[in-house]
Amino acid sequence: MAQAAVRFEQVRKNYGRQAVLQGIDLDIAAGMSFGLVGINGAGKTTLIKCLLDFCHVDAGRIEIFGNRHTDNRARARLAFLPERFMPPYFLTGRDFLSYMLTLDKRAVEDERVHAMFAALDLEAAALDKPVRSYSKGMTQKLGLAACLLAEPDLLILDEPMSGLDPLARASVKQLLRRLREQGRTLFFTSHALSDVEEICEHMVVLHRGSLRFSGSPRALMQRYACDAMEPAFLKCIESDSHG
Ligand SMILES: Nc1ncnc2c1ncn2[C@@H]1O[C@H](COP(=O)(O)OP(=O)(O)O)[C@@H](O)[C@H]1O
Ligand SMILES: [Mg+2]
Repeated sequence: MAQAAVRFEQVRKNYGRQAVLQGIDLDIAAGMSFGLVGINGAGKTTLIKCLLDFCHVDAGRIEIFGNRHTDNRARARLAFLPERFMPPYFLTGRDFLSYMLTLDKRAVEDERVHAMFAALDLEAAALDKPVRSYSKGMTQKLGLAACLLAEPDLLILDEPMSGLDPLARASVKQLLRRLREQGRTLFFTSHALSDVEEICEHMVVLHRGSLRFSGSPRALMQRYACDAMEPAFLKCIESDSHG
């Protein structure tokens, strides 16, 4: 079996008396495009925060490429784009990318940066503008550019399509689909089921703190005898059966 890029074992997380994650078991094989779906408040961002050791886990174990998630080495091979990405407002796009790539001990090659901007439909002139002048969509694309240019083995993107118009979504989806050909692992969250259907081989549905489904998007539709993702997802979260 391929090495797991990410492994959760019986992970529990409470906020006060609220049990947000109630014993999550999940294996994401290296090289997989993986989507985590659930309604708002399902715990998707919390699961990612636990994975990245941004918050304390109440129980269970998490590994990234075989390292404990609390070990700094575990984060060496990943890039992360948060749900509300806010780069320092005073930097230009170019400064931000240089800063991120330098932290990653990578050279900033103008050619690659320009190619990435073109692939994301961002005009090159934006590189020299301060990020405070960027629209929400442009800011999101800058964050995606930084993650993709770092060429990590594992990309963790929390709601990467939010704030993007349909044209931008299409370009981002194309870039994300390419990751699989490059053997990289993609872990992203979304409440847009069509994005998951188009990009992922493996998805899970998180609802009320536990995983209700794990498998391919097609298998989700088959299980609930639906020919579209949305009704299948709705049946999945309405049902009490865990699977
Ligand atoms: N820092 C926090 N303190 C208290 N409750 C939180 C905190 N972060 C998230 N929650 C609660 O945990 C639940 C899951 O939130 P979240 O992981 O952000 O969901 P999602 O990303 O799926 O929309 C929600 O009920 C939210 O209100
Ligand atoms: Mg979230």
